[in-house]
Amino acid sequence: MPLFNVYPLYDVTPVSGKDVHVYDDKGTEYLDLYGGHAVISIGHAHPKYVEAITEQVAKLGFYSNAVQNPLQQELACKLEALSGCKEYELFLCSSGAEANENALKLASFKTGKSRVLAFKNGFHGRTSAAVAATDNSNIIAPINAQQKVTILDLNDIDGVKRELEKGDVCAVILEFIQGVGGLDQATGTFFEAVDLLCKANNTMFIADEVQSGYGRSGKFFAFQHYNVIPDIISIAKGMGNGFPIGGVLIHPHIEAKYGMLGTTFGGNHLACAAGLAVLNTIEDEGLIDNVNAMAAYFMTLAETIPQVKKIKGRGLMLGLEFDFEVSELRKKLIYKHHVFTGGASNKNVLRILPPLTVKKEHITMFFDALVKALEEVELSVT
Ligand SMILES: Cc1ncc(COP(=O)(O)O)c(C=O)c1O
Repeated sequence: MPLFNVYPLYDVTPVSGKDVHVYDDKGTEYLDLYGGHAVISIGHAHPKYVEAITEQVAKLGFYSNAVQNPLQQELACKLEALSGCKEYELFLCSSGAEANENALKLASFKTGKSRVLAFKNGFHGRTSAAVAATDNSNIIAPINAQQKVTILDLNDIDGVKRELEKGDVCAVILEFIQGVGGLDQATGTFFEAVDLLCKANNTMFIADEVQSGYGRSGKFFAFQHYNVIPDIISIAKGMGNGFPIGGVLIHPHIEAKYGMLGTTFGGNHLACAAGLAVLNTIEDEGLIDNVNAMAAYFMTLAETIPQVKKIKGRGLMLGLEFDFEVSELRKKLIYKHHVFTGGASNKNVLRILPPLTVKKEHITMFFDALVKALEEVELSVT
């Protein structure tokens, strides 16, 4: 049976990984500065992660959400301690889209309203309400287009005020650092004004931390760089270091009712073991401090590259913007210099999302490779 052909693929077949490296079927080592779409947080095949998952699967990999599972509570306690989000409650699911789908559903349940405000170049996933709130008409099917969504420009605070005052908006959903879109960030003034407007208009403020959460921005959550209190926070990606797990942190003013949300796989024993190993490692290895130190080092080297027009993002969620499309550059980096990087909707942006364990030597290696790859790309067009 052929695979449904929806992914344009690089001709590389990784078969193993160790920390910031992956190895292909021919034994070639690649420096992974993309972490498989920002998923690898504590590094490939981290020994404590491997041990936790191995031990758990040998005991009990799965049972449904119809019985007690103390691992879920353990995960929730650790997440509260590390994130500093003291008041929230946790619902566990299995992906970023599912987290946002549940977040939007909760906002609608809570307010009795159904329109959503989202932002240009935002990305929230590919399921029903999540994809409708995503600014990409190519991935919105007619069935998704039935949702009521208004897309505004980032920083358009007058637009947010005007729309919220119409009284029918259940949620404002945004990324504090846009991932897929290309690392744009609104201003702190904008984020803080959105927060206040949501509170004044009975609208839920959803922080989509699927990509920016779990330390990637240099704080546990990217919203924590600002003075805001989201009603709902969605998480996934780095949460499981590759194991499919997502979640929603829910402010207690949204009251739980039996049956309001549910899932078969979400919060299963194996997923919780993976999620706990990630949180323990972030804490034990001081990975958020490492993010900040490595981000500063990255910036100093990026500033020395004349072709870089703009350095975008923060922490280890970074983008280098050029005045040309980066697809050839990415090919040179991967095939010739064996470095994985990412692209974005903004085709001039090279996305850098390494494991949070990355060290100076890896960043130096990347910039050495980038300088050479830029020369090669320039030679090939002249
Ligand atoms: C900010 C953001 N939200 C949601 C999603 C969707 O996550 P998933 O692919 O796990 O459904 C993504 C994926 O890239 C994302 O970057």
